[in-house]
Amino acid sequence: MRKLIVIDACMRDGESRTRRILEPLAAELGKRYEIETIVLDGDDYRAVGRKTLAERNSGYVPERIVEQAKKIAAADRLVIAAPFWDMSFPAILKVFIENMSLFNITFRDNGTYFDGLCRCEKVLYITTRGMNVRTGDPLDAATPYLKALGTLWGLGEVITIAAENMDYSTPEEIEEKIDAAVAQGLEICRNF
Ligand SMILES: Cc1cc2nc3c(=O)[nH]c(=O)nc-3n(C[C@H](O)[C@H](O)[C@H](O)COP(=O)(O)O)c2cc1C
Repeated sequence: MRKLIVIDACMRDGESRTRRILEPLAAELGKRYEIETIVLDGDDYRAVGRKTLAERNSGYVPERIVEQAKKIAAADRLVIAAPFWDMSFPAILKVFIENMSLFNITFRDNGTYFDGLCRCEKVLYITTRGMNVRTGDPLDAATPYLKALGTLWGLGEVITIAAENMDYSTPEEIEEKIDAAVAQGLEICRNF
């Protein structure tokens, strides 16, 4: 069975609207993919700073990180679920990406150009936004970043499913928006 990794950066657990969209889509994709979920927490990965860079430059990367990056590189599909924070996604997701962005595992570079090494052909990015920011709006700084990362790592197409204006909608409207995003997502899952 082909492998799919879910990267779950929904910090509000039971309250998370983003995760409510993720769950039925993951259940649907679970019929065709072997799913592994990485639930990000905040304490699990260290931002790549001086210490980590110095370690990397001396040739050392913790085995746990290398194994995780190899899994990402080998996955057939990725699903990223992350709420819209500070016009992008939570920093914990960026920290995770920095940790996984390893030379000769997720990408390589021949001295003049880089080359993605990931097997993945499609990424599904699921988000909910508090403000009325649509995907593709210049205020959406998350989708363009994930597309750029997709180019670096060689992830293929990045498809965004989003519900907007969640913090300014009535409870009924929020339910409708979640249902619409799930319906749109299930349609995408048919060919994902
Ligand atoms: C720390 C934090 C930062 C946020 N920053 C923004 C923002 O910059 N723009 C925006 O539209 N909504 C912002 N929001 C609102 C969330 O995007 C919105 O409530 C979303 O539905 C939360 O997703 P969740 O229910 O999955 O946690 C922020 C929420 C939090 C908790």
